[in-house]
Amino acid sequence: METDERMARYRSALEFAERQVANLIERHADFFPIYTRGGKWRHEGELWTDWTGGFLAGMMWQFHRRTGDAVWRERAEHYSRLLEHRQFDRNVHDLGFIFLNTYGPWYRLTGDERLRQVLIQAGRTLALRFRERGRYLCSFVGPESLFIDIMMNVPIIFLAANETDDSTLRDIATAHCRTTRDRIVRPDGSTAHEGLFDTDTGEFLRESTHQGLAPDSAWARGLAWSLYGYDQCFALTGNEEFLEVSERNARYWIDHLPADHVPYWDFRADRTQPPPWGAQRESSAGAIAACGLLDLATHARDPALAATCRSTALAMLDALVDPEYLAVQTPGWEGILKHGVYHTAKNLGVDESVMWGEYFFVEALTKVVVDGR
Ligand code: GLY
Repeated sequence: METDERMARYRSALEFAERQVANLIERHADFFPIYTRGGKWRHEGELWTDWTGGFLAGMMWQFHRRTGDAVWRERAEHYSRLLEHRQFDRNVHDLGFIFLNTYGPWYRLTGDERLRQVLIQAGRTLALRFRERGRYLCSFVGPESLFIDIMMNVPIIFLAANETDDSTLRDIATAHCRTTRDRIVRPDGSTAHEGLFDTDTGEFLRESTHQGLAPDSAWARGLAWSLYGYDQCFALTGNEEFLEVSERNARYWIDHLPADHVPYWDFRADRTQPPPWGAQRESSAGAIAACGLLDLATHARDPALAATCRSTALAMLDALVDPEYLAVQTPGWEGILKHGVYHTAKNLGVDESVMWGEYFFVEALTKVVVDGR
């Protein structure tokens, strides 16, 4: 696709995203939905865990960054403030998701010390999940569990460590990255969703999954969290151990992506079988990986890999702005991006819009349109 045409399509997708978010907050003020049901945000479906508030508020910060519109800033500040108490939340492993996309941009814009303290506290709170036996941050399901998703949250601990020069925080985050790499990132660059440990001895027991096809499969979103998370950890530390993992994840992603550049929900799903366990797309994983690949393209040590990261990210975004995925021609659909999946086994948000898919889609397009990535 020619650059001008691409930019026009990306801008138009971002304008559609603004309209959908404005409609959502007008219809359901101060409500933080996680996934749609039949395309509608308000329903009685289970949350599983409450981890996505930062994505709705984060989109508002992205809209403000692109447009400079004071109304988006006002809304972004309001929705961010509603999340402030979560800086002390010890029940989730998701404090990076909640604060990096909200207080992060707000602090960068203002340099306000109060906002910096919220970010530092969120990093400190997340670090309290560290298990010395096994050397990992445990997931919300229990002390024995390490999730690949946590890789996308660890950056808030490195951020807090950098802001305070606290070597204990840095050591915890580094240990978690190494344990994740050694236990659930495989030599071929694919990832398991979960690692289980013996809590008495810290011994690694086995791979496992909640949201993927099987313990030994390659859940697409988990791989995307790893790819983008390790690259962010490299950006915050300069530690090439983390860059190597992100590069390994990227090679697996690029080599296994279908020809139309939109991932299936699990790279090992049998695509001859019907959805949701077989040929089910997962647009949110594509959006997350697009962000990661755009950033990795600026860090990868091999120029050929860097170029492929960028071209793959753009090809994925070109596919996602098509009305097959962008809900622009689906009347009554309240989300932005269709064909995301939250939790197949629990039948939550399957083939729906999911709030993190919305956010990372907006973030990726904004990286291209505003930053010229
Ligand atoms: N639990 C995070 C995710 O669904 O990716």
